[in-house]
Formats: sequence, structure tokens, C-alpha cells
Amino acid sequence: MKMLYQGKAKSIYTTDTPNELLMKFNDDATAFNGEKHEQFEDKGRINKMLTCLIYPILEKRGVPTHFIEDVNETNVLVKAVDIVPIELVVRNVVAGSLAKRTGLEEGHELSKPLIEYYYKDDSLGDPIINEMHIAELKLATPEELREMNRQALIVNEVLLEILGEAKIRLIDFKLEFGRLQADPSVIVLADEISPDTCRFWDAETNEKMDKDRFRRDMGGMMDAYREVLNRVQKIAER
Ligand code: TMP
Repeated sequence: MKMLYQGKAKSIYTTDTPNELLMKFNDDATAFNGEKHEQFEDKGRINKMLTCLIYPILEKRGVPTHFIEDVNETNVLVKAVDIVPIELVVRNVVAGSLAKRTGLEEGHELSKPLIEYYYKDDSLGDPIINEMHIAELKLATPEELREMNRQALIVNEVLLEILGEAKIRLIDFKLEFGRLQADPSVIVLADEISPDTCRFWDAETNEKMDKDRFRRDMGGMMDAYREVLNRVQKIAER
């Protein structure tokens, strides 16, 4: 196996099968474009398990994903894709950079889901962009963007359902999509869905159950991740 790509919290390895890759979840957490960095024992395994619970449900609900199968503690077999360099953020409740950018208070319920695009480029610090930037930079065609939006809204509906049952509020989340290497006309959901890439608040107490605990030095991050996994496991396995 050869490492193809090393990201901040995952790495990608080749396999013996064409168009299939291994995605390894590691224990690193970073924030503020890698400025802040720490290791959390067991984080990779937990995020991998959550992703492996959620992606098959999304597939059943009509969202094509890169997921093939769960391999072991920290590895998942995935379809090879070329990542579209757009981070798509879906928000249901104001938090984080939206609060900073608009002055709206964290916790304010949005009237409908809000989709934002960020240019996936670490050297630029992942700036927010709009459809016209995407067209000008040729990051995706209008049809591809429409497909990504369509899939993102289904993901939001499915996650709202599962997490609602798990008594977790889905505040916002980030998705990445890719073009299948086997057929670049097909856009699939790639990357992961975990407390690293979502904001989850306890439905009763509004306590944060996601990476904001690390970003904001609140402590207790792994206990929160484990609690998210326990609750989602109970729902997904029903
Ligand atoms: P933001 O409020 O900081 O823009 O984050 C919006 C959502 O995107 C939140 O759920 C956290 C997630 N996110 C990532 O997954 N990766 C990132 O690099 C950033 C900045 C946010």
C-alpha cells in the first residue's frame, strides 16, 4: 500500500483493486487551518464508526457516496474520486463563522437551511465563495453544483431525522464531494460525517458535542464524541 494523500485527520492509501482506495482515520485534531493541533486517543476509530453508520443510510435514501465497506478499526474502503475543491456547508442554526460574518446570535434558528461554499485551499485559508466564483475558477459546472446542493439537502434531512431521534440538534455541517475516477460524470458524497465536521448540540442542554470543544478549549471532547456515537448507534441499529 502506498500513501496517496495525507490530510489533517485522514490519509488515503492505494489498494490492489483499481479505483478503490483505503481511507484511514487518524487521531489528530486541528483547528484554525492547522495552527492548533492535538492528538486524541480513539478519535479516528469513533469518527470512522460514525461515518460507517451514516453513509449506508444516506445511500439508501438516494445519496450516492464513495463508501464501499468498513475494513477495520480505523480504515474504510472507498471508491477513488477526484475531490471537487469546494467545502459545502449546510446550516440550520447560526454558529461559528456565520455568527461572526452576520452578527446574528449563535443559536438563532434559520428560517430554512442555508448552503455556503468555501474554496478548499489551505494556502488561502478556505475563503467563502459564491456561484460566480465557482464558475470563474471552474471548480464545478452549474449542473455539478446543482447536484451537490440536491444531495446536501437530502443529507440534511436524513441527519436531522437520525439526530433528532438521538436527541441531538444538528446545527451545521461540512460536506465534500468527488467525481468518480471510474466515471467523472458521477458526483458522489466523499470525505466523512463526524463530530469533526459537524456541529452537534445536546437537544436538552444545548451542550456542545463536537470539535468546537477543542476549537474553544472547553475540554471533554472525547466524552462528547463517544456519547454521539452511542446515541447514533442505538438509532442506526434499530
Ligand atoms: P464555520 O462556522 O467555522 O464556518 O464551520 C461550519 C461547519 O463546517 C462546522 O460544522 C464545522 C465545519 N468545518 C469543517 O468541517 N472544516 C473546517 O475547516 C471548518 C472551518 C469548518
